[in-house]
Amino acid sequence: MERKPFSQACENNKQVILEKLSVVFDGPGVILEIGTGTGQHAIHFASNLPHLTWQPSDHPSNQDLCKPWLNEAGLQNINTPLVLDVSARDWHLPPINGVFSANTAHIMSWPEVKAMLRGAAAHLPKGGAFCLYGPFNYDGKFTSSSNQQFDASLRQRNPAMGIRDMDDLKQISSESGLALESDFEMPANNRLLVWRRS
Ligand SMILES: C[S@@+](CC[C@H](N)C(=O)[O-])C[C@H]1O[C@@H](n2cnc3c(N)ncnc32)[C@H](O)[C@@H]1O
Repeated sequence: MERKPFSQACENNKQVILEKLSVVFDGPGVILEIGTGTGQHAIHFASNLPHLTWQPSDHPSNQDLCKPWLNEAGLQNINTPLVLDVSARDWHLPPINGVFSANTAHIMSWPEVKAMLRGAAAHLPKGGAFCLYGPFNYDGKFTSSSNQQFDASLRQRNPAMGIRDMDDLKQISSESGLALESDFEMPANNRLLVWRRS
């Protein structure tokens, strides 16, 4: 058996995220996941939302990470993972109906976050949703001391990383044609943002 990487955070948040995704992605379609990581989310969402086809993807540096979980699950509604760096000029995607990404905006540099929002907007059909999960700041302020400590640890690891501010995200998204439809409070000082292609 292949050794599987494991994310405890995914185990902790996958059910609460699923409850929101089941409402947002309520019709059949292909959902692109950006920054799939271990694949635990992909399996949980694809197995519980069988009307969807899940399209995992990740940066070239992590392209094999999800394979052990996906191979073991063998789900019919998960496509072969794509290699996708959001900063690539061309994403080389099949047609998609929605986008999901978790815990990526604070790992990507700010230019990559902008590329993710712009790329998602460019590939979504009108009315398509982009669900972005993670910690975010409001009016330049952290929502908890644990998020502040997390941000400091990220910036120590790599100064380009860090928790993003909603005002900055809203500016880029509105310029790209994405309207913020919902901002759900989630456990552990996280949010689920739902943008819709206008
Ligand atoms: C903290 S992990 C989150 C993984 C998974 N979504 C989760 O919630 O456990 C961040 C992910 O973002 C991906 N990532 C970072 N930079 C990226 C980029 N430029 N394009 C696409 N994915 C990127 C990493 O490869 C990694 O899979």
